[in-house]
Amino acid sequence: MTDKRHHHHSRRAEFSSKFGVIMAAAGSAVGLGNIWKFPYITGVYGGAAFLFVYLAFIAAIGVPVMLSEFIIGRGARRNPFGAFRKLAPNSLWPFAGMMGIGAAFMILSYYGVVAGWSLEYIVRSLTDGFSGKSADELAADFTTFVESPVEPVIYQLLFMFMTGLIVFAGVKNGIEKGSKIMMPLLIFIVIILGIRSITLPGAGDGLKFFFKPDFSRLTWEGVLAALGHAFFSLSLGMGTLITYGSYISADTSLPRSAVQVSGLDTLISILAGLVIFPAVFAYGIEPGSGPGLVFITLPNVFVQMPGGYVFAILFFVLLTLAALTSAISILEVVVVYFHEELKIRRKVATVLATVVTGLLGVICSLSMGINKGQTFFGLNFFDLMDWISAYLLLPLGGLLITLFVGWRLGRRLVHAEISKGGHLSPAMLTVFMALIKIIAPIAIAIVFFKGINLL
Ligand code: PFF
Repeated sequence: MTDKRHHHHSRRAEFSSKFGVIMAAAGSAVGLGNIWKFPYITGVYGGAAFLFVYLAFIAAIGVPVMLSEFIIGRGARRNPFGAFRKLAPNSLWPFAGMMGIGAAFMILSYYGVVAGWSLEYIVRSLTDGFSGKSADELAADFTTFVESPVEPVIYQLLFMFMTGLIVFAGVKNGIEKGSKIMMPLLIFIVIILGIRSITLPGAGDGLKFFFKPDFSRLTWEGVLAALGHAFFSLSLGMGTLITYGSYISADTSLPRSAVQVSGLDTLISILAGLVIFPAVFAYGIEPGSGPGLVFITLPNVFVQMPGGYVFAILFFVLLTLAALTSAISILEVVVVYFHEELKIRRKVATVLATVVTGLLGVICSLSMGINKGQTFFGLNFFDLMDWISAYLLLPLGGLLITLFVGWRLGRRLVHAEISKGGHLSPAMLTVFMALIKIIAPIAIAIVFFKGINLL
C-alpha cells in the first residue's frame, strides 16, 4: 500500500472507512494474545486479582498509549522509524522506532509457532482427533505434539508463508476486508462457546477464579505481566499502531477509535476467559498449567458438547485467522520500514522479513522439544523471545511513545491532531496530557523496574 510513496505527488494509502479502521486495528489487536495468552497468564498469576490489574492498565495506560501511537502515525504518515525522524529531526527519537522493529522480529518468531499449533488443531479437529479422549489424554497429545521436532515446524512455516503471502499481495484489501468479515464471526463463536462453558456443571468455581479477586496472590511479577500483556494485547509499544495510524484518514476521530479498539479487544479477552475458566474447573484442569491451557481445555469442551465436531473446526479456523490478521500487522511494520527507510522494494522486503522471522520461529519451536535443555536466564528460546519483547521492549517502547507525545510534541500539536474528525473536550485533553506526560511514564517505570527486580 505504500508502493507509490516515492512518486512525489501520489497520496499515501488510507483505510477506506471508519469501520475499516476499527476492524483493521482490532484485527491486529485481537489475536492469540486474547484467546491463547490472556487466559493462561491469568491462570498462572492467580486469576481475578490479575484481571483487575490488567483492566486498570488497559484504561489508564493502554488507551492513552494507543491514542499516542495514532497521533504519531497520522501526524507523520510514515513507518515508525521515519515518523519519529520526521517529527523530531536530528534527535535520538528514531531509535525508539528501531527498537519496535526489533520487537516485531521477536514477537513474530514465536507468534508463528503458536499459530502453527492452531493450524494443526484445525486438521486435528477435521479428522475428529479429540473424540473419545480423556482430559489426560488430550493433555498428553498436546505435549507430544509441541515437543516433536518436525510437525510443529512445518505448520509454523506454513503459517508464516500464509502471512508473507498476504503482505506480499498488498495488505489493504486483505487486512481491511478480511477483518470486517472475520471479526464479527469470531465474536459470535466466542459467545456461543462461552454459553456452553458457563453452563457446564462445576462452572461456578471457574467464574469465581476469574472474577473474585484474592489480592494476596498478586506478585510484582504478575503486575509486570499484566502491564506487558496490556501492551501485547493492544499491539502497542512497537509501532504497529503508528503504522496503522499512518493509514487513518483525516476525517476519523482518533480518540474514539482508540477507545473502541481497546474496548473490543478487552471484551474479547473477557469472553475468552469466560470460555476457558469454567471449563478448566469443570474438567479439573490446573488453571496455571501454562501455554497449553487453550489447546487442552477447549478440546475437552468440544468432546462434551453437541455439535462439538463442528465447533472445534470453527474455533481453530477462527483462532488461526485471528492470529493471521495480527501476524500480518507485525510483518507490515518490518516491511514498511524496509521499504520506506532502506528503500528495498516492498516485495523483496516482504520475502526477506518473512524468511528471517520464519527461521527464528524454527528455533523457537525446537526449543520446546529437542532443545529444551538450552536455556537463557532459565528460559528456553521461545519463552526468551516472549519475555524480552512483551515484558521489556513493549513497555519500554510505550514509555518512550508517551514521553515523546507528551513532552516533545506537546499539547498544541496533540490538540491539532485529535481535532481532525472529532474532538476531545479541554478537560479530557488535560486528563490525557497528564496521563501521558506523568502518570503513565511513572507507572510504567515503577512496574518495569520492580518487575525485573531492579528496585
Ligand atoms: N495484539 C496481538 C495479540 O493480542 O495477539 C499480538 C500483537 C500484534 C502484538 C501486533 C504486538 C503487535 F505489534
